[in-house]
Amino acid sequence: MAEIEQKFREVNHVELKARLLAVGVGEPTVHEEIDHYFNAPDRDFARTGEAFRLRRVGKQNYFTFKGPKQPGAVKIRSELEFPLGEGDEVAGWHLELLRLLGYREVAQVRKIRTSYRLAREPFEVHICLDEVEELGAFAEVEVLAPQEQAAKAAEVLGEVAEQLGLQQVEPRSYLSLLLAARAQSHLSTPKVVTTVRELRQALDEVRRQHLTIGFVPTMGALHEGHASLMQAARSRNDFVVVSIFVNPTQFGPNEDLARYPRPFEADVRVCAERGVDLIFHPSPEEMYPPGFRTYVEVTGIQDRFEGASRPGHFRGVATVVLKLFHQVRPDRAYFGQKDAQQVRVIQQMVRDLDVPIEIVVCPTVREADGLALSSRNRYLDAGQRANSVALFRALQTAQKMYHQGERDPEVLKRVMEQVIAGTDEAQLDYAAVIEVDSFEPAADLSRPVLLALAVRFGETRLIDNLLLG
Ligand code: PAJ
Repeated sequence: MAEIEQKFREVNHVELKARLLAVGVGEPTVHEEIDHYFNAPDRDFARTGEAFRLRRVGKQNYFTFKGPKQPGAVKIRSELEFPLGEGDEVAGWHLELLRLLGYREVAQVRKIRTSYRLAREPFEVHICLDEVEELGAFAEVEVLAPQEQAAKAAEVLGEVAEQLGLQQVEPRSYLSLLLAARAQSHLSTPKVVTTVRELRQALDEVRRQHLTIGFVPTMGALHEGHASLMQAARSRNDFVVVSIFVNPTQFGPNEDLARYPRPFEADVRVCAERGVDLIFHPSPEEMYPPGFRTYVEVTGIQDRFEGASRPGHFRGVATVVLKLFHQVRPDRAYFGQKDAQQVRVIQQMVRDLDVPIEIVVCPTVREADGLALSSRNRYLDAGQRANSVALFRALQTAQKMYHQGERDPEVLKRVMEQVIAGTDEAQLDYAAVIEVDSFEPAADLSRPVLLALAVRFGETRLIDNLLLG
């Protein structure tokens, strides 16, 4: 059998009970449930997506094992549950046995569950109103169905949820919500660590608690673009780490390494506001001690476009990001589409070097006039700032022509060049139409492409891009 269920948060139980009566449910059953969650000695259930618990429903005790979740908003997973006999003594024996076998109790989730049944041929739908200790009011809609009818059952579940006005889906388990809430209450301002040793110590403790880790690498001078990545990380992970490190190896000899802004205190405030748990702020010597010799190169891709204008840049980026990945060991890492070629380089590196981290790409955050937010925008004087909107205008002009049917990449490239040429103080570095997969100049527009631009205003170099198709 498959368990198809969906959880909803911020549920008003009084209103929901009224709606349930209106759709004709029977009398509910009410009991206290205590779930003792365990982790295995031989593998980490937080990583495998499995769950194992001793469940106490009133007097009755059960073992429940849930297999890994299949992807999708609606949870579909195999489940095994069987009774163990009644009473405190029986529960005590089993808890003791698990401890002796090396199973460790992660947390107890306690709730008062009011369960209703609703017949929806050929299934029976269970609607549970849960009052969860430390977390509040939730509802769960659940359908048990044979594997082959799982898709149909998911459809029925969606219909019932809609009918009951349940909207705010909560994908996380009570266990991860509880662990995240506890971690949050301990750390309201982010902790700052500066050495790899301290970082590892802090994160070992997080992993012991079976929390998922989201990671946002940055060079600081944080703005709303960075903040959007933190927010994305916060929404899907129990623990969020931000690194702030102006990485010398990705700057060329005549670039802005020395004058790159480093407003550390303001950066800590941005992280605090976005619920970041830990900031890693190493010194250059910590990251590159004397005798450092190893670099990562993503050949081919690293030498084009941005790489052609900034030789060695992506070698520095790939090296520092792989180091940070090893230091933090996150479940997911967050990058901005603003730096599209950087994203492509990191994705390639992760694939080629078997790095077990999910790369999440977030959309470009812009000012009201379209300028992509960047730590370097603060270098622009008032006139350059006004003219810098030309990048986005050039991209939009080419995008519009594409939507009107233009299919020659050379024409799109030329139109972007013309917009920049007609802008005061703007010096074009490159305008390109790039095939997304190969990251080569696009020969035609039959597949998705990236419109990309790099433009200088005085000393300041700005980049931007738009995806087409
Ligand atoms: P930095 O320029 O500080 O950017 C950190 C992250 O924020 C990158 O993933 C970047 O794409 C993202 N970002 C910047 N501006 C954005 C915007 N307007 N909208 C959305 N996301 C935006 O990129 C780096 O640092 C470094 O190369 C780094 C990856 C940290 C390695 O040193």
